[in-house]
Amino acid sequence: MPTDAFHSEVSLTVNGSPYCLPLNHRTTVLDVLREQLGLIGAKKGCDHGQCGACTVLVDGRRANSCLMLAVAHEGADITTVEGLRGADDDSLHPLQQAFLERDAFQCGYCTPGQLCSAVGAIAEAAAGDASHVTLPGAANGAPVTLTRDEIRERLSGNLCRCGAYPHIVEAVEDVVR
Ligand code: FES
Ligand code: FES
Repeated sequence: MPTDAFHSEVSLTVNGSPYCLPLNHRTTVLDVLREQLGLIGAKKGCDHGQCGACTVLVDGRRANSCLMLAVAHEGADITTVEGLRGADDDSLHPLQQAFLERDAFQCGYCTPGQLCSAVGAIAEAAAGDASHVTLPGAANGAPVTLTRDEIRERLSGNLCRCGAYPHIVEAVEDVVR
């Protein structure tokens, strides 16, 4: 497809692989992942930034990919649930393992978003980012301890229609402990 006033070549790295795609300017990162790259882990739940099912990591930060226009993220490094790995390429990420052990899902629809969001939340807490429930002065740039309340608050943007929340919190607790 030629580039024109409505299309541009966009370079993205997804799960370590480079892509250069001719994209309509209205194409979201979520649609690139699902429709063009066949990475269907991230889900289109609401397509309005309300459910978190489409959460991926963009340059290490979690983000709702349904709200991101791909053309605005030229050069971004994106990790989807398919790209989460353990210590070696053949093993599960510790959070994936913990979700299995804690039975932290039922239908699994929200799970890719929950996992990517939890990876991002753990990194944010380690970097000292305060949440809504972090006590004033507790962070000040120091790592924030992920208590149950912190985990609940930091994952509150990821809805689970099956109500698997208690086990999701336990799984994240297992990993941060
Ligand atoms: Fe993106 Fe719901 S599909 S937040
Ligand atoms: Fe079904 Fe969360 S496990 S929506």
